[in-house]
Amino acid sequence: MSQVSSSPSLDADAPVVVAKDLKQVYKISRGLLRKPDALQAVGGVSFEVRPGKTLAVVGESGCGKSTLARMVSLIEKPSAGQLHINGVDVVSAKHEAQKALRRTVQLVFQNPYGSLNPRKKIGAILEAPLEINTQLSPDERAEQARRMLALVGLRPEHYDRYPHMFSGGQRQRIAIARALMLKPALVVADEPVSALDVSIQAQVLNLLADLQQELGLAYLFISHDLGVVRHIAHDVLVMYLGQAVEQGNKNTLFSNPLHPYTQALLASTPGLVGTGATLPRTPLSGELPSPLNPPPGCVFSTRCPHANERCRTERPLPRELAARMVACHEAERFIQTAALQH
Ligand SMILES: Nc1ncnc2c1ncn2[C@@H]1O[C@H](COP(=O)(O)OP(=O)(O)O)[C@@H](O)[C@H]1O
Ligand SMILES: [Mg+2]
Repeated sequence: MSQVSSSPSLDADAPVVVAKDLKQVYKISRGLLRKPDALQAVGGVSFEVRPGKTLAVVGESGCGKSTLARMVSLIEKPSAGQLHINGVDVVSAKHEAQKALRRTVQLVFQNPYGSLNPRKKIGAILEAPLEINTQLSPDERAEQARRMLALVGLRPEHYDRYPHMFSGGQRQRIAIARALMLKPALVVADEPVSALDVSIQAQVLNLLADLQQELGLAYLFISHDLGVVRHIAHDVLVMYLGQAVEQGNKNTLFSNPLHPYTQALLASTPGLVGTGATLPRTPLSGELPSPLNPPPGCVFSTRCPHANERCRTERPLPRELAARMVACHEAERFIQTAALQH
């Protein structure tokens, strides 16, 4: 073996996405003569996702999850920060490189019906990305579409049916199949099971987990529901008002959440209380502040049962503590040594 050849085993585990201090600020118009307001939807978020791994992004509606999804899937450029996909700097990439990256990252949305053309048969829907992006013959495209149908648990006869003939869970299988046609390295799934019945949710989550194993996919999995995240995540990023408040390994966070917001989210998720930690858990109360006018100190301070004067005036930076990142001045007092030793 030549010494200059790079080791495939090392490269194979390189992160698919690396995000550093990603920000997105929207300008909200207030009429012709007034300066627009700036709404910081994502205020500096950093993470990476490796092949075969799932990073779950959780938080209440409006915390910036979909904005993050749009940046990572190259629909929107970040207003600041760095984003590398497969080692390529997304922001400065040339047009051709951008095009190639768009194939590398595919999206699955909450409502697949909205994105499936009702006048096209499933076969044509699955073959469309191949038609646009590859030189494959019609026969080859059809063969790949049929193989994909089987992979996502649909039947051969579904090839000739229209989207309205399917249930919600089946439609999400179709959307997943379409996302996989171009063999992406990363799938960004924005609330992919939120519109489904609980029993169907489990089936689609199992399918996603199987596909990840089989194809080595990296997932950025977005959900407001920690109960869903528990089944699929390896790592978890908890967001509040555009900020990453806590992030790390799923078991670490679930067994001993250090940020009061993570604690409150866990407390309000049925079936998760008592899964390790014995912290007193206060469910969330109070209103989410407006992102146009965020609290000056910690973004969570207006709803936090532990907030003190410092919390209300000084924004806590994310720091490493007890094997995760946490942005809370008071985090030390929640560390449970027993919970971390499992
Ligand atoms: N295109 C946009 N223009 C202006 N504000 C936006 C836009 N998209 C999202 N926002 C605002 O950014 C914040 C984050 O929204 P979003 O990313 O959709 O949150 P989530 O997906 O967690 O519910 C919200 O306050 C939302 O109103
Ligand atoms: Mg959203």
